[in-house]
Amino acid sequence: MNGKLAGKTLTELLSQSQQKLHHVLRAQDFKDKNYITELFLIANWLEENSSDCMRGKILVWYGAEASTRTRLSFGFAARKLGGAVEAISSSDSSQEKGESIEDTIKSIATMGADVIVLRHPDEHAVWRASLTCKIPLINGGSGKEHHPTQALLDIYTIFRTVKKLDGLSIALIGDLAYSRTTNSLIYLLSKFEGVTAYLVSPEHLRMKGELAHYLVQKGMKVVQTTELEPVIGQVEVVYQTRAQKERTADSAEHLGLAPYVLTPKMVARMQEKAVILHPLPRNQELPREIDSLPQARYFDQMYYGRLIRQALLAKIFG
Ligand code: NCD
Repeated sequence: MNGKLAGKTLTELLSQSQQKLHHVLRAQDFKDKNYITELFLIANWLEENSSDCMRGKILVWYGAEASTRTRLSFGFAARKLGGAVEAISSSDSSQEKGESIEDTIKSIATMGADVIVLRHPDEHAVWRASLTCKIPLINGGSGKEHHPTQALLDIYTIFRTVKKLDGLSIALIGDLAYSRTTNSLIYLLSKFEGVTAYLVSPEHLRMKGELAHYLVQKGMKVVQTTELEPVIGQVEVVYQTRAQKERTADSAEHLGLAPYVLTPKMVARMQEKAVILHPLPRNQELPREIDSLPQARYFDQMYYGRLIRQALLAKIFG
């Protein structure tokens, strides 16, 4: 794919796809595989070259839920493209005084923002906001449902590290009921051919049936299992997740995740070139002793994440 880059200008790369981006609310907004691979080319280009396609533009981050990586990654991406960045959180905004999400987003846009990234624990908020938002709105994570740009960075990381997407074998592990990252990632992977996905979780934290059904319909080989041990040596990507405790009223719901903790002994049974990914933050499911092993690529995800978000912003503004 790097070969295709030779001699291309950013303008040429940006004008390849027919699909125009406005709001990015869910992984389903990336219509086809070509669009995604074109974003990879743009990210590769931006790794080697610079662009100031966001000069004079302002990105506003609005966070109604905590964020370290997504917020900073968008901030760095916009600044790398010559843009300015503002950030506000629900706790220091007029949401505290009962303002609606519609009014908040409309106000940010009216004052001069050029793009808004919204993170919200309520999955309805991003849809409500999108109806009144005239400028591009990017979903930076909505409840347990969607995290489209995390999915982009996850598949870009897979593409850069494992060097394939068609024919990929992947295990998604842990809390698949409440993790928005796995929902969005598996949806994007369903656009590629011959993918095998092992969905490894306790029964009560399975991925929602509707999504698993969709994947099978799209031709993905889906294996739902409660056992990690037999799967660990079968896959090229081990995608670990955190218990999304903040999304459930019942703390007992996350009991039973102990068998899904990765150990160095398990990692030793992984395929030679396989990688471990995790969107982070992590808890006990991914012990720090694994960090020094060659399979651990979860800090690389952040590097690729900034690049792919630059590509996305370049697509919007370029
Ligand atoms: C994830 C999220 O917010 O959904 N983190 C992230 O964006 N990098 C995963 C998580 O919180 O577990």
